[in-house]
Amino acid sequence: MSINDQHSKAATGGNEKTCFIKTYGCQMNVYDSQRMEEALAAAGYRPVAAAENADMVILNTCHIREKAAEKVYSELGRLKPLKQQNKNMVIGVAGCVAQAEGAEIIARAPVVDMVFGPQTFQQLPAMLDEIDDTRARGDKPKLVRTDFPATEKFAALKAVARKPVTRSPSAFVTVQEGCDKFCTFCVVPYTRGEEVSRASGDIIAEARALVAEGVSEITLLGQNVNAWEFEGVRLDGLLAQLGEIEGLARLRFTTSHPRDMDAALIAAHGENDKLMPYLHLPVQSGSDAILKAMNRKHSAADYIELTKKFRGARPDLALSSDFIVGFPGETEADFEATLALVEEVTYAQAFSFKYSPRPGTPAADAEAQIDEAVKAARLARLQALLNAQQLAFNHAQKGRVLPVLFDKPSKNGDQMSGRSPYLQPVHVPFSALGLDDATDAANALRGRILPVEITGTHANSLSGIVAV
Ligand code: 5AD
Ligand code: SF4
Repeated sequence: MSINDQHSKAATGGNEKTCFIKTYGCQMNVYDSQRMEEALAAAGYRPVAAAENADMVILNTCHIREKAAEKVYSELGRLKPLKQQNKNMVIGVAGCVAQAEGAEIIARAPVVDMVFGPQTFQQLPAMLDEIDDTRARGDKPKLVRTDFPATEKFAALKAVARKPVTRSPSAFVTVQEGCDKFCTFCVVPYTRGEEVSRASGDIIAEARALVAEGVSEITLLGQNVNAWEFEGVRLDGLLAQLGEIEGLARLRFTTSHPRDMDAALIAAHGENDKLMPYLHLPVQSGSDAILKAMNRKHSAADYIELTKKFRGARPDLALSSDFIVGFPGETEADFEATLALVEEVTYAQAFSFKYSPRPGTPAADAEAQIDEAVKAARLARLQALLNAQQLAFNHAQKGRVLPVLFDKPSKNGDQMSGRSPYLQPVHVPFSALGLDDATDAANALRGRILPVEITGTHANSLSGIVAV
């Protein structure tokens, strides 16, 4: 038993329980899982590394594509024998599958005791009490909480104590949640609810607390982060206020919708020197007919124009995007328009997916669904182009000296890894700095931003040497 374990047992009077949270999907789920861990810590639960040893297991799920949603049921199948061994185990399904499927989850997988959506996890301690009461009566818990008090959630975030951990120098802060755009392929407006912005005072307080713990890079999270607005201030204003926090060196934000971009946020990319030269701006398709059918509310030309404005404000801006191929009705010409848009814009990085019909979304009912083999072939062609652009972008860094924010030892070898301003992972041998041990290197370098001369460029990362 480690000193920490002994300490936490003492703190909870020996009644300590354990929890394991498995996270699927987006960065907001990662953030939410951390907050759940904190809420559970307050209720006497210590996190453990595997479901086998846990009194409580939560799957924080993603509903964005069918594959992501189905993973939950296979994981629940794996949990069943564990629960047979430990009848007191509590199994919860959280996140977007919980929101979308609610009580159906318990009907399909009776091993589940509770289902709660992304807006209700702050009620976790009260839900656990209810489960105890139900079991004390000899009944099987079937608790479902999927209402939408999003503002309550933001208020509750304030009350939860942050974990005193050795954290990465890079942290997420949720500032906005939900989506009012209703793209016809997307479940997010149904699972995360309408757009809600968090109060700037709370965001700044959380950022300050993180910086006091050693964080030097903050990524603001929101499903439509550039729709954030509070008391007449928009995202550029929030970024300016955050930029004044001493010790906070880097700011990022994700994910943006092209329709919510304004001139001030574009200008901020040239004016706010803490704002990193990297923008994730999903376009989904380069065909106007498909964009219209997707209800994206912008044309390919609008998007291209927007990227030009951003590059006017910040010439070295690295762009990233999301793409869907095989949306219902997508012709070969539509798909080629997407390739043409990629050729014109050029990306440093991108995510691309085959269209996956989601129950309850308008596009799922469209008649002109595209054959899986056609989707797969288009995805391969698009990814070949995007990968080539990413490689070219990485190669272009060779010989440059980039400021790298160091985070942790690399998985293999005697290297520390960090991130360039363009979000590329950068690996640096620490022996060249006179450090011969990964722990020493982490202690010496974690959280520092040092100039690195880029000597090697690869598909997904860069390597180099500290230039001091
Ligand atoms: N099928 C495939 N990809 C999807 N995305 C969202 N919904 C679907 C779907 N039904 C993609 C979009 C979005 C990203 C987060 O996931 O590209 O930007
Ligand atoms: Fe989904 Fe469109 Fe909203 Fe993004 S903007 S979350 S793709 S509905």
